[in-house]
Amino acid sequence: MNRSRGYRAFSKSALQDTEQALHGHFEVNYDYPVVFTDHLFDPENPCLHRQLTAQHGASASVLMFADEQLLQSAPALLKQIEGYFATHAADLRLLAAPIAVPAGELSKNPQALQQLYADMLRHGLDRHCYVLALGGGAVLDAVGYASATFHRGIRLIRIPSTVLAQNDAGIGVKNGINAFGQKNLLGAFYPATAVINDFQLLTHLSRRDQIAGLAEAVKVALIKDAAFFQWIEQQADALAHFDHPASRYAIRRCAELHLEHITGAGDPFERGNGRPLDYGHWAAHKLENLSGHRLRHGEAVAVGMALDGFYANAKGLLSDADSDRVLRLLRKLGFCLCPPELMLKDVQGRSQVLLGLEEFRQHLGGQLSIPMLKRIGESVDLHEIDTTLMEQALLRLTGCSNPVPGLSQGCTP
Ligand SMILES: NC(=O)c1ccc[n+]([C@@H]2O[C@H](COP(=O)([O-])OP(=O)(O)OC[C@H]3O[C@@H](n4cnc5c(N)ncnc54)[C@H](O)[C@@H]3O)[C@@H](O)[C@H]2O)c1
Repeated sequence: MNRSRGYRAFSKSALQDTEQALHGHFEVNYDYPVVFTDHLFDPENPCLHRQLTAQHGASASVLMFADEQLLQSAPALLKQIEGYFATHAADLRLLAAPIAVPAGELSKNPQALQQLYADMLRHGLDRHCYVLALGGGAVLDAVGYASATFHRGIRLIRIPSTVLAQNDAGIGVKNGINAFGQKNLLGAFYPATAVINDFQLLTHLSRRDQIAGLAEAVKVALIKDAAFFQWIEQQADALAHFDHPASRYAIRRCAELHLEHITGAGDPFERGNGRPLDYGHWAAHKLENLSGHRLRHGEAVAVGMALDGFYANAKGLLSDADSDRVLRLLRKLGFCLCPPELMLKDVQGRSQVLLGLEEFRQHLGGQLSIPMLKRIGESVDLHEIDTTLMEQALLRLTGCSNPVPGLSQGCTP
C-alpha cells in the first residue's frame, strides 16, 4: 500500500471539510425591566405579581432566598411576604417560607452555594419555577449564580436590598462567588427576568451600608456624567445623612447609567477588554480580600478611586483641581480613604494591594485594562501601569498628605 498517496488523498478531503465548516448561529434577546417601587409586599402593590405572571398563564411556583441580616433587621418582613403570597394564592405558589442565606459576603463561597443547590433540589425547582433573590449585592451574586447553573438556568427575579445592589449590582447581568481566595472567580453572565427596587427595604440598612453604596454612584458619575457628579457634590450633606429624596434620585440615576452602559455599549458579557464600570475596582477587589471582607465593596471602591485619582494626577491625565474634587467628595460622604490594609506588605516587602494589578490582569484574561480619569465625567483605558508611579500614589494616599481642610478623614475604626 502506498501510504503517502493515501495520506495525500485523506489530507485533501480533510482540507475540503475544514474549508466547508459547519456554521452555528443564533441570537438570544434579553429584555428585563428595572422597576422602582415602595412596599413591594403590600398585597395592593402590583409590581411583583405582574412580573411573575407576565410570561405564562399558569400559576407561578416561587422559591425565595433572603439575606439573613435583612430578615433580622426587618422582622416584620417574613409575615408580609407570607401574607402577600397568601393573598395571591390563586396564581402564585410560594414553595416554602423564605430561606435565609448567610449575610453579605459569607453567601459568596462554595459551601453556601452547595446549600443553595440543596435547597433548590429539595423543593423540586424546575426551569419553569422562579427564584426570588432578596438581599444585598453579595446574596444576589450567589443566588444568581446558583440560579444560572441549576438545571442550566432557573428564572430569576432580583430584589436588591442595599443601596449598592439597587444602583449597581442588581442591575447588571453578572453573578458569581469567591473561590480559591479570589473575588468573583466563579460566575456566570445570567440576566434576571426582572429587577425590582423597593426603596423601603433600604430604611433597614445601617448608616454605614446606606453610605457605602454611594461609592458606585460617584464612580459612574466620574466616568460618564460630569453633571451628575456636580449634583452629588451639591447634595453631599443630604446624601451622607441618607435624606430620602436625594438618595432616591442618586440611586435611580446611578442605576440608569449602569443599565445604559451594560445594555447599550455592545458588550454586556464583557468579551472585550474595556471595562469603564470597573473604575477603582482593581484595588478594591484586592482590599476587600486583604480585609477578610471587613471592608464593604463600596468602601473599598472609594479607596480604589482615590488611589487611581492620585495615579492619574501623577501621570498628567487628571488635573490637580479634579483630583481634589474627587477626594473632597469621597471624604464629605464619609468614606475612609486610608484603611490599614493599604499598608500591608508581603514577605518580600512588596505592597500587597499593588499585587492586585496582576490578579486583575488575569481576571481580564491577559491584557491589562484599567480605566483612569482624564477629567470628571470621562475615562480612558490604560493597558500599562507604571508601578513606581502607582507606589507614589499609594504613598500619597496612605500619608493622607492632601487632607481636605475642615473635614475629618471619615474613618471608622
Ligand atoms: N454582579 C455585579 O454586577 C456586581 C456589581 C457590584 C458589586 N457586586 C458585588 O456585590 C457585593 C456587595 O454588595 P453590597 O454592597 O450590597 O453588600 P452586601 O451584600 O455585603 O450587604 C451589606 C450588608 O448589608 C446587609 N443587608 C442587606 N440588605 C439589608 C437591609 N435591607 N437591611 C439591613 N441589612 C441588609 C447584608 O447582610 C450585609 O451585611 C460584593 O460581593 C460585590 O462583589 C456585584
